[in-house]
Amino acid sequence: MYVAQPIEWTEQGVVMLDQRRLPAEEISHTYTDYVGVAKAIREMVIRGAPAIGVAAAMGVAIGIQKSKAGSVDQLQRELVQICETLAETRPTAVDLFWALERMKVRFAAVTQATSDLAEIRKKMIAEALEVHLEKQAADEAIGRFGAEYMPQEGQVMTQCNAGALATAGIGTALGVIRVAYEQGRKLHVLVPETRPYLQGARLTAWELYRGGIPLTLITDNMVGHFLKTGKVGAVVTGADRIAANGDTANKIGTYQIAVLAKENNVPFYVAAPISTFDLSIPDGEHIPIEERSSEEVTHIQGVRIAPDVHAAHPAFDVTPNRYIHAIFTQRGVAKAPFTESLKQLASAQPVAAAQ
Ligand code: MRU
Repeated sequence: MYVAQPIEWTEQGVVMLDQRRLPAEEISHTYTDYVGVAKAIREMVIRGAPAIGVAAAMGVAIGIQKSKAGSVDQLQRELVQICETLAETRPTAVDLFWALERMKVRFAAVTQATSDLAEIRKKMIAEALEVHLEKQAADEAIGRFGAEYMPQEGQVMTQCNAGALATAGIGTALGVIRVAYEQGRKLHVLVPETRPYLQGARLTAWELYRGGIPLTLITDNMVGHFLKTGKVGAVVTGADRIAANGDTANKIGTYQIAVLAKENNVPFYVAAPISTFDLSIPDGEHIPIEERSSEEVTHIQGVRIAPDVHAAHPAFDVTPNRYIHAIFTQRGVAKAPFTESLKQLASAQPVAAAQ
């Protein structure tokens, strides 16, 4: 089944599929320095929490690779600058900060063992590639755990795009749907368009269509209607940051879907890797919410659709844990009380999911 490839490390640089142009055009850009990678993250060439993490790791790797530093100390100072630049791109997706921390830890370990700059560069590139591979493996396991919770047949709803484009694997929420579908469950996906950036209409619809999974595209204000009909078996979304108590930040609009799901007795699930946990914060009140340009609300693809008025654009909202039935991760399924189950999964050894 077709799996989109949003990012790739090549000899020439970091190649990214430009998600701003989908589905109209499939265009890729090659980034040859970390400043370019940071700009690509900020401007949504690549997006989706886990994919942002992979891009950040590759951004650090290319920064180190291209550095003219003549000593480990100099390289260390540049690493600080590289990480600061990448950290300033998008505030909500915690995978970004997770990836930067991981690359810093690796740098410390590598430079402890050697001061050979060529060797250090090689090892940092290898670490970024390892981050990518781990994301792919995590998605596969999340998919296997989550598929068990999907109905044998009927409609499931998602939000935004939590597919291959968003993770650089098979996707988290769409990974669950994909695995369930491949297992023979006869699923039909309801895809809210996800205003204002239209990740549902542009990206999820495109991925499902290319993958041969049946779908119906709906506008965001149809969500309540479809949940109320009693013909939706489950909702499954991704996450940008999950607090210690299970409160989950995801694309704006997720909260209202979760509330409407509960009102209509439809189970609401979150699918995310452990790197999306932020156990350093107690609850969703502490999650920073990215404010994006109001132009993304007043315009669609550059065409003005509203008068020149003030418009708000919080890019994410927080779903309180009481609306979440379960969180699918690569190490198993977390259920309430999440404060306990998330902590356990975070410290657990990886386990094999049901095949
Ligand atoms: O602004 P975006 O497109 O980066 O937002 C993406 C989402 O909200 C996704 O649902 C989330 O990152 C999970 S992706 C597996």
